[in-house]
Amino acid sequence: MEPFALPESFLLGTATASLQIEGGDRNNSWYRWVQTGHVKDGTSCIVADDHWNRVTEDIALMKQLHQQTYRMSLEWSRIEPARGQFDKDAIGHYRLEIQQLVNAGIRPLVTLHHFSNPLWLEDAGAWVNPDIVDLFERYTAYVVENLGDLVSDWCTINEPNVYLAAGYVMGGWPPSNISITKYFRGARNMIAAHIKSYRKIHQVRASNGYNDTMVGVANHLRLFDPKHGNGRERWAAGMYERLFQELFVTGMCEGRLLSPLGGGYPLGEGRYFDFLGVNYYTRDIVDCSGKSTSPLGRLEVREDSQKNDLGWELYPEGLYRVCKKYWDRYHTPIFITENGTADAKDAFRTRYIYDHLLQVSQLIGDGVDVQRYYHWSLMDNFEWIEGLSAKFGIVAVDYATLERTVRTSGWFYADVAKHHGVTEKMIQQYLA
Ligand code: FCB
Repeated sequence: MEPFALPESFLLGTATASLQIEGGDRNNSWYRWVQTGHVKDGTSCIVADDHWNRVTEDIALMKQLHQQTYRMSLEWSRIEPARGQFDKDAIGHYRLEIQQLVNAGIRPLVTLHHFSNPLWLEDAGAWVNPDIVDLFERYTAYVVENLGDLVSDWCTINEPNVYLAAGYVMGGWPPSNISITKYFRGARNMIAAHIKSYRKIHQVRASNGYNDTMVGVANHLRLFDPKHGNGRERWAAGMYERLFQELFVTGMCEGRLLSPLGGGYPLGEGRYFDFLGVNYYTRDIVDCSGKSTSPLGRLEVREDSQKNDLGWELYPEGLYRVCKKYWDRYHTPIFITENGTADAKDAFRTRYIYDHLLQVSQLIGDGVDVQRYYHWSLMDNFEWIEGLSAKFGIVAVDYATLERTVRTSGWFYADVAKHHGVTEKMIQQYLA
């Protein structure tokens, strides 16, 4: 193992999402999903990490871990609890939280939508109803008018492809309404909503005198590698990539609709991103052999690979591959908006962080402008249908007492942030 350095201007931080850590809100689609028995381990998001009441403590922890930036999300159901009614106390709470981050020298990156919807929106068809485009723009405007003096960096939507695939193709997530037509309709609406929100954030901040606005999407990017490499598998892998990824990236970055979403530039040709957000976790292997009836074959996990607690292959080179691909296409700065692993025993997370940041340092060495890395996650949290039992935190949370305990990998990551890289001494201490 080699030491490596990251540029002094490179920012290291962690990412979380409101629904997964805050607790206390019943007015959203995921609380209802929990109540109707859909979470595998039977746990709930109603308390989660109780972060809503522990903001000060958690920011002190970030500070102790030398974090330079923090990606958080806002719960729309708190800010607009009923259609058109905005809650001053909720936005005031977020304002105080963000003010504390800024005071601690931690730069906020704020996500407007991270999977959960207010119930009034969910019941109106959420992202498959074209009304969402204007509703999201109005919500964006309200948020940015209230927080835009403190926040320059924004993610409009987290992982639009995962949200739609899980809710409308695989069906394990709310609203579990399987329909490929709805998947495509949702994609068109999310693209339009992102573009209008992108413009709105810039417009509101510019009219208040700020010209340092950075807006992007947190794109879930993975690799689809053919198992045997024959023509059929390569074709299938290309289809997965197109339907799960390219439709979204091209639509949101350029405003261009690819088939089967449509064609051309319905909202105008543009550059609707100031950074490319990359959420990278793993890859899929495409297998078209045997009796598979689908022309797309099956998605598998590589058999001989090391896997995390959820069975995801650990594949650090994939981070290099996805970043390089989109850098070559767009030449726009990249933020790794999420990267992390489920590891309850903290047995391989330290190595995981080392391996993935090594890829980042190689990308930078090869001229790719990667500017930030957000580890998922600051602390254990409510991992959607996996519930509280999937452990992604560099900080462990005891759900009986809500006590936070920094894992060894967390101390390692703190050292990486402090030194902007990995030194020989750190390799001896944590990785030997
Ligand atoms: C991503 C999500 C995030 C978290 C991680 C493990 O897909 O954006 O909320 O669940 O996976």
